[in-house]
Amino acid sequence: DAWLRYAALPCDVRKAASIPAGIVALNDTETSPVYTAGQELHKGVLGILQKDLAVTSTPINGSSITIGTVDAFTSAGGALSELDLKGDGFWLSIKGDSVQIVGQNERGALYGTFQYLSMLAQGNFTEVAYASNPSAPIRWVNQWDNMDDTGTHGSIERGYAGPSIFFAEGLIVEDLTRVSQYARLMASIGLNGIIVNNVNANVNLLNSTNMAGLGRIADAMRPWGVRMGISLNFDSPRTLGKLTTADPLDEGVIQWWDEIATQLHDHVPDFAGVLVKANSESQPGPLTYNRTLADGANLFARAIKPHGDAIVMFRAFVYDNKINQTNWKADRANAAVDFFRDLDGKFDDNVVVQIKYGPIDFQVREPVSPLFGHLQQTGSVVELQVTQEYLGQQCHLVYLPPLWKTILNFDMKVDNQPSLVRDIVSGERFNQKLAGYAAVVNVGTNTSWLGSHLAMSNFYAYGRLAWEPTSDDVAILEDWARLTFGSDRTIIDTITKMSMESWPAHENYTGNLGIQSLTDITGPHYGPKPQSQDGNGWGQWTRADATSIGMDRTVWNGTGYSGQYAPEVAAMYEDIETTPDDLLLWFHHVPYTQQLKSGKTVIQHFYDAHYDGAAVAQTFPKQWEAVKGLIDAERYDEVAFRLEYQAGHALVWRDAINDFYFNMSSIKDEQGRVGNH
Ligand code: GCU
Repeated sequence: DAWLRYAALPCDVRKAASIPAGIVALNDTETSPVYTAGQELHKGVLGILQKDLAVTSTPINGSSITIGTVDAFTSAGGALSELDLKGDGFWLSIKGDSVQIVGQNERGALYGTFQYLSMLAQGNFTEVAYASNPSAPIRWVNQWDNMDDTGTHGSIERGYAGPSIFFAEGLIVEDLTRVSQYARLMASIGLNGIIVNNVNANVNLLNSTNMAGLGRIADAMRPWGVRMGISLNFDSPRTLGKLTTADPLDEGVIQWWDEIATQLHDHVPDFAGVLVKANSESQPGPLTYNRTLADGANLFARAIKPHGDAIVMFRAFVYDNKINQTNWKADRANAAVDFFRDLDGKFDDNVVVQIKYGPIDFQVREPVSPLFGHLQQTGSVVELQVTQEYLGQQCHLVYLPPLWKTILNFDMKVDNQPSLVRDIVSGERFNQKLAGYAAVVNVGTNTSWLGSHLAMSNFYAYGRLAWEPTSDDVAILEDWARLTFGSDRTIIDTITKMSMESWPAHENYTGNLGIQSLTDITGPHYGPKPQSQDGNGWGQWTRADATSIGMDRTVWNGTGYSGQYAPEVAAMYEDIETTPDDLLLWFHHVPYTQQLKSGKTVIQHFYDAHYDGAAVAQTFPKQWEAVKGLIDAERYDEVAFRLEYQAGHALVWRDAINDFYFNMSSIKDEQGRVGNH
């Protein structure tokens, strides 16, 4: 149940609640999110307040919780003032024992219900009356689940919580209970869509048995207002359809996709859309046929267009993974803008471009992807990662919202106008109807969903931030901790302190000053392996040698990447004096003895930061001991085990990285710690 436990409030707290006499869900069709909301309220009130309320669909005057859409309220004779609701928004009014939850649509009514339940579960009985609207229309999850396993369960690329809840033995699983539970979690944080299979897509998902299976998945998620979509493999017309080409302008290929879109729509009438990874990391794509990426995206856009409002999410993660490091102008970070800049305006209106937050790949710190500033006639979706691929794979506690907020709050200053990333992905800055959020979540069959109890704060916070990106990351964390573990102040304070220290600590003991995560990038992306960054075609280079380190991405002397930003931002990164220390090595190639704004040299900062970060991780097991006895032993022990491991692994990180750069540079640590163990 994660944060939806509905644990009973203590008796004395319960006494303060004015409990309504019944629940009215103004729509009793079983697949309706309003019906679901009624059932969920029943369950929640029973758990939290220990009160068994009847659910009906007939309006009651007076003491009740009434849930419905604006239309349903109006037809039931409810007098509603101007509510100012956008798509999926809700109005919540709590006055004594009379509660009204009004959705702009059915999904909105369900979101309002979860909001009310979240207040109850936290013992918050405040009277309120307000409208709440999501910041952006697209608030999706991406799962990287594979269906090509012959074993009993499908694997998940970069998933750390066991096998797939969707796929097994190349098919869609029979029992979809977990799938509907997942949709419940998503709905409770305002998420409205999901892509269920890996971006490296298997064509067999489109065979007739699996199409029917997709219909079952969509049925399981629909009562929670979650719409389902899939990732497509560009080459499917050739590999599955046995055509001789997958050229997006070929008549036969167009017809083939039209037919697939029709079948998808037959099985999933409210199909959400398709996600496409093309011409990236050896995946096929339109460039293979000398067509543009827009030609490729529009092929799918036109196929799905006749069947409702489904969309194409075309990924900007397009790059060549065989670039040559001896060329100092070569730069993977340039790829997205190079590929997409001239395509703005060439995409159909049901296409959005999904952009990873940084130009490389979910690193511990990256500058914002400059592509957000270039697409003005096409909607942008920011791609985040809840699964901690490069950031400790859920074996390390890393609370990610502070990282995400550095991205969302960044001002791209396009055309000298305020251009915060969060206003670009809300659609506001460039007047786009379609825009929003996607996060690679990768839950698995593990009962904790992500394989780690504390990692779930990232999933919860993702939904909350996609709804309202200005929300405070500590407040979100406190809500999550209260809902997940209970209201005791020691629990809240302990989790908040450790979590808020975790990203800076992780950055310190892994890769700082913008050098990236320094993990094993040619292997599992886990553990320290700084030597793996260079000498290969992947382009996550550090260019470290005996005297200097960093990528020169300036226009005057380097790869030209800094010139991809609007002039004011470009000028800041172009000049070493105005580049923030935390991105220094991202933008500049400098001697190890280069002085930072702090007065330290680069190499001494490396040594100190790795010691500082590891020292913070050392405190986590001790901090956690404070909650012993305040939460159940099972979760206490599981978290304690992981924190103990993290404390040890942070030392491994510290020493591996420090020794590596000491050996490389032969520069001694001023404090005499490095090279002596
Ligand atoms: C990363 C990740 C891959 C994934 C790719 C993508 O490189 O390691 O597993 O396929 O991103 O986002 O497409």
